[in-house]
Amino acid sequence: MAYNLLKGKKGLIFGALNDKSIAWKVAERAHEEGADLVLTNTPVSIRLGTIDELAKKTNATVIPADATNTEDLTTLVEKGMEAVGGKFDFVLHSIGMSPNVRKKRAYDDLNYDFLSKTLDISAISFHKVIQTCKKLDAINEWGSVVALTYVAAQRTLFEYNDMADAKAMLESIARSFGYIYGRSKHIRINTISQSPTLTTAGSGVKGIDKLMDFSERMAPLGNATADECADFTITLFSDLTRKITMQNLFHDGGFSSMGMSKSAMVQYEKSFEDCND
Ligand SMILES: NC(=O)c1ccc[n+]([C@@H]2O[C@H](COP(=O)([O-])OP(=O)(O)OC[C@H]3O[C@@H](n4cnc5c(N)ncnc54)[C@H](O)[C@@H]3O)[C@@H](O)[C@H]2O)c1
Repeated sequence: MAYNLLKGKKGLIFGALNDKSIAWKVAERAHEEGADLVLTNTPVSIRLGTIDELAKKTNATVIPADATNTEDLTTLVEKGMEAVGGKFDFVLHSIGMSPNVRKKRAYDDLNYDFLSKTLDISAISFHKVIQTCKKLDAINEWGSVVALTYVAAQRTLFEYNDMADAKAMLESIARSFGYIYGRSKHIRINTISQSPTLTTAGSGVKGIDKLMDFSERMAPLGNATADECADFTITLFSDLTRKITMQNLFHDGGFSSMGMSKSAMVQYEKSFEDCND
């Protein structure tokens, strides 16, 4: 159901690779709510993915950019404003990648060049996006910037590897820049900490199926889907949340507040019995 929450607003969305991507779902919902959109991804992801299909569906313009490259970002923001005919009201950063995870380097055997890439792509790019927008005065007063993160920033989850460090940095950037952009332009910056979700990036996390089963058992409301994440993101882009800033907001069915649940206990008891067989 649409509520016209983003009627007349213009948005810039990073990270829609295919129809599993969280950014894809956000773009669909933002379009339904009346926003004009610019979609972006790296040239290789545009080639390998299906973003053009999304652009058609949402009447959006696609402009390629590597979010770690400030020249690309400047061109993207300038051309993007031309495409939508004005400044943006919201920006979504839905970007993550770890070469250490991809190449199966364990956390106690990291390749440091890879670590720099992980941090640049998954965290520092968020700073680069915001700084570029601020320099070009590309976001309207009371605009909203959101990035997607994961609870591994606060708690250690087996095999999440150096992405945990990237997410901790990403959330810190939201607070540090939230103060500066909030004071100067009333622009709010938040992160959404989403449940594990079966996307291309999610599938790269070792044992994602077990992780999803575990958090499904732990969370009283169950895992949040990508569609539900899109719904929540829309509220943060809307005018109904104008005083929320510098927050990390858990969208995880309650997982992050749990220690042990009945459903997880039952599962644990089962494997305990198996061990004693
Ligand atoms: N899937 C999950 O379980 C989960 C859970 C919590 C948070 N998140 C976060 O959600 C965000 C979106 O991931 P997703 O799960 O939708 O997976 P996805 O693979 O669909 O999206 C990741 C995107 O990052 C883009 N990207 C990578 N390098 C880039 C670069 N240099 N410049 C611009 N874009 C680049 C990819 O092209 C891709 O579109 C990520 O930040 C991810 O960490 C995912």
